[in-house]
Amino acid sequence: MNMDMKVIEQMVEQALKEIAAEQPQKFTAPKVERYGVFDTMDEAIEAAAEAQKILLFSKIEDRQKYVDALRAAILKRENLELVSRLAVEETEIGCYEHKLIKNRLAATRTPGTEDLVTEAVTGDNGLTLVEYCPFGVIGAITPTTNPTETIINNSISMIAGGNTVVFSPHPRAKKVSQMLVKILNKALIEAGAPENLITMVEEPSIENTNKMIEHPKVRVLVATGGPAIVKKVLSSGKKAIGAGAGNPPVVVDETADIEKAAKDIVAGCSFDNNVPCIAEKEVFAVDQITDYLIHYMKLNGAFQMTDPTLIERLVTVVTNEKGGPKTSFVGKSAQYILKQLGILVDESVKVIIMEVPKDHILVQEELMMPILPIVRVPNVDLAIEYAHEAEHGNRHTAMMHSKNVEKLSKMAKIMETTIFVKNAPSYAGIGVGGEGFTTFTIAGPTGEGLTSARSFCRKRKCVMTDAFSIR
Ligand code: COA
Repeated sequence: MNMDMKVIEQMVEQALKEIAAEQPQKFTAPKVERYGVFDTMDEAIEAAAEAQKILLFSKIEDRQKYVDALRAAILKRENLELVSRLAVEETEIGCYEHKLIKNRLAATRTPGTEDLVTEAVTGDNGLTLVEYCPFGVIGAITPTTNPTETIINNSISMIAGGNTVVFSPHPRAKKVSQMLVKILNKALIEAGAPENLITMVEEPSIENTNKMIEHPKVRVLVATGGPAIVKKVLSSGKKAIGAGAGNPPVVVDETADIEKAAKDIVAGCSFDNNVPCIAEKEVFAVDQITDYLIHYMKLNGAFQMTDPTLIERLVTVVTNEKGGPKTSFVGKSAQYILKQLGILVDESVKVIIMEVPKDHILVQEELMMPILPIVRVPNVDLAIEYAHEAEHGNRHTAMMHSKNVEKLSKMAKIMETTIFVKNAPSYAGIGVGGEGFTTFTIAGPTGEGLTSARSFCRKRKCVMTDAFSIR
């Protein structure tokens, strides 16, 4: 009996030892896939810096493969719908159907490695190459207005250019940005790319953005956002690319196809509830055609306000004490805005229009809401002058509806905008119904304008003397 007990005790002791030995293994937490999302900014930057060292030595063919993987990931229906829906839900800005268009556009029309065209000069002294080379780690700040479009667009351009990127999304778009960064990294890893070509922190904040701005391993800063953040990166002392405010005007003269102009203006102004920085924000119409234009705008979904008291109530509701847009109204629909004034309309109403003088706040302030003031002017030359004034030298985007080639050229020259759209909605300027590539970082203040892979590269020279000229 005693013997048996001893054996049993030994067996129990042995079993407990085995369990104890097994425990660490048994309770090891499963590996959590970060897919580029880190607890701290330091970790996010260090990881992107390590990844860039690998990317630097990968083939251009591989970089293109990674770009193609990013495109394919976004074009997967469930991903496209998920990020578009989540962007609207989280930020409460814009409209789902238009986010689908913009995200698809960013995936398909952002240039890849083909943008990096090598220049070669040969002569008696040999061969010189000038090539677009990466900066290293780029710190990119993205907005609430176009959160996913900007991340997709910047990721493709920056990785095509051989850089890795640390995103600092607007805190009010953190969930959708995280989701997107994970989707993109997963696709990259599946395509054989190094981990962490794209990173961000779990909790984006002003503090974390400041850390990113100051970190020595972040070589370039790119800010797509409101005036405050653009100003901040431009005063960082680092190379910075800033894409900020616009206030794009539209001029319509007496030679235009007025019915088409009315339709195009309403369509452009209401696209994603007016948040694209290229969208029509105010109209200068030649007196002779203004009534005709307004009539056709109303037939295409414009709601006209004529009562000056109501217009002033609208201003009070949608602007803040500094005269800028009230954040809670940015990217809201015309139907929603009118409801706050006690006016009930159906979804066919896309834009709120009103006639106002040229110095009115609705003309001079960029609101990013489907509110479109119309200024009646005696002639096209004055219309162009007022449009220039209202754009405040941002040199961002302008539209003109006219068949007068001379006046079209005059306005294009005077405005000096990065994008000038003739006889079409503003979105033709980013490739929806217009030719050319797309960008969601339109860098007027720093001069890069339409950014693409080459905007995020340094031009470097490689010189071979006395050989390789075969002329
Ligand atoms: N990460 C951390 N902080 C950010 C940030 C980011 N990605 N983006 C902005 N911030 C900061 C700003 O610097 C500002 O800081 P401050 O208070 O210390 O000055 C603060 O957040 C608030 O800025 P913001 O969110 O811009 O102010 P807001 O809520 O009053 O304005 C908008 C909201 C939508 C009107 C404004 O962001 C805007 O104009 N966006 C336009 C974006 C855009 O589409 N630009 C053109 C692209 S081509």
